[in-house]
Amino acid sequence: MINQAPVIAIDGPSGAGKGTVSQLVAEKLGWHLLDSGALYRLLALAVSHHGMSVEDADTLKVLAEHLDIQFKQSEDSKVEIVLEGEIVTQAIRTEEVGHSASKLAAIPEVREGLLLRQRAFAQAPGLVADGRDMGTVVFPNAPIKIFLTASAEERAQRRLLQLQQKGEAVNLEELVQSIKERDERDANRAIAPLVPAAGALVIDSTNLSIEEVVEIVFAETVKAGLI
Ligand code: DC
Repeated sequence: MINQAPVIAIDGPSGAGKGTVSQLVAEKLGWHLLDSGALYRLLALAVSHHGMSVEDADTLKVLAEHLDIQFKQSEDSKVEIVLEGEIVTQAIRTEEVGHSASKLAAIPEVREGLLLRQRAFAQAPGLVADGRDMGTVVFPNAPIKIFLTASAEERAQRRLLQLQQKGEAVNLEELVQSIKERDERDANRAIAPLVPAAGALVIDSTNLSIEEVVEIVFAETVKAGLI
């Protein structure tokens, strides 16, 4: 038995709303949350900090297995992400780090190095796992598998708003292009490509609010008898 506790696997492309939906579902259920994309982003940041080569896959695997990462609950119930003692909650969210993470994520040794760390998040009473291969590779026995998607244009719009709120100047067309490039790489890589898991419920959120998506996932959890 791979899973220690019930897992809701939420996969999909970037900008589909997985992060917010996963966080809200986890809060509503009182379950743990795994933001697996953050692990790939943290690794990308560490590689850049240490000036490491991305050619040496075996060293990357060791780094992935042992990287000093903490997800710390802060007082206002927000999560602070700490890499080797430094708070990097914001630093890992840039487009640049996202791109480097996507490149690292195509290296089999990197995925292998992060596998057991991800599975360790499956603790009672349950886990909401957000990523690209949660339902296909990391938690194949998850009782609930969701594939959340939205059009590239809608995802770029959402990302534009987020970046503008953070004061980052970005261009919509460039964002659409960047999202399509990243989708292409994530969907076509040889290992753990971004595809819906067998039996996954596919939700297209292009015309749905976050709350509507949360309700659908919650209803699935009730239907599956998990709460
Ligand atoms: O979800 P995100 O944008 O934070 O993820 C950053 C990159 O990491 C994304 O381009 C693909 C990769 N990733 C992955 O390959 N597998 C996961 N489970 C999560 C993220």
